[in-house]
Amino acid sequence: MHKSLSFDDVLLEPKYSDIGSRSEIDIGNHLSETAYLELPVISSPMDTVTEDEMAWTIYEEGGLGVLHRYNTIEEQITLVNKRPGLKAAAIGVTGDYEERAYALFDAGINYLCLDVAHGHHVLVKTALAKLRNSFGDKIHLMAGNVATLKAFNDLADWGADSIRVGIGGGSICSTRINTGHGVPTFQSIHDCSYSDRDAKLIADGGIKNSGDIVKALAAGADFVMLGSMLAGTDESPGEIFTSGNKKYKVYRGMASRSAQMDWRGQSSSPEGISTTIPYKGSAADILRDIAGNVRSGFSYTGTRDLREFQSKATFLSQTPAGQLESSTHILRK
Ligand code: IMP
Repeated sequence: MHKSLSFDDVLLEPKYSDIGSRSEIDIGNHLSETAYLELPVISSPMDTVTEDEMAWTIYEEGGLGVLHRYNTIEEQITLVNKRPGLKAAAIGVTGDYEERAYALFDAGINYLCLDVAHGHHVLVKTALAKLRNSFGDKIHLMAGNVATLKAFNDLADWGADSIRVGIGGGSICSTRINTGHGVPTFQSIHDCSYSDRDAKLIADGGIKNSGDIVKALAAGADFVMLGSMLAGTDESPGEIFTSGNKKYKVYRGMASRSAQMDWRGQSSSPEGISTTIPYKGSAADILRDIAGNVRSGFSYTGTRDLREFQSKATFLSQTPAGQLESSTHILRK
């Protein structure tokens, strides 16, 4: 049996640095030959995370937002048309997915995300082949989710340009509880980073803070995908409501009972939950903090860009006592 590690099991070793200012550091990365993201952050295609406002804000901050697919084709196209700058949208791999893909392409979308819980699946293989056949290289195909190197390589061989890595780690996810399956996201990133394929690795699920983002990048991720870190903001879809003197918004898994009821009128075998989270204000501010913290992370390793960071970074594992010390432990008193 293999052992596996989670984000909180590891720390990055600080190294000698000659970096005078964080402005010397470039945390960006190429998503494709022509697209460079200055901020290696992508927002999740979830109906409490990414519609046009989030996608636009994250685009302005240098990242990418993937419009969710839990609506009619017409509703999704309306979102795209609200901000013709928008680039990425999700589709499924059954039902109307080809029609949706054509409509999105015609509306100007050039990143299609095949958004499936278990991406190492024949339906994903078939859909990737069909879409590649239809669009050739005119469109970027993001696919997932996967948890193992074998799955990563297969999706790359089936035609995926970028691959979401992480199964069962999402903050609203109950896949591991309900099905017993999954791999800690940090371990999956580490394993998939050994791929010799060209596909980009997008770490997805369970990223709680910018420290986890830095660890994900060090372990081999090209980008991170965020749900909970960007939910509960002005730019995430949904109403702010007040309880007591505090403000909240809803954040829910797309396989939760409530999400399933809303998008397909029935639910079966939920693999996620719906919850309320404290309202956090502006996603733009959160993204700027993330950018600053990731730059600081590179600086602690003494590196100026992602490739250098990934080649120099070294991890330590930490004990439960180390995990306690790594938290702001005065708050536990
Ligand atoms: P978070 O950033 O930890 O909140 O995780 C967000 C990720 O959870 C998404 O990008 C998806 O990969 C995944 N996800 C979204 N909805 C569900 C669900 O209902 N069950 C399991 N995973 C989900």
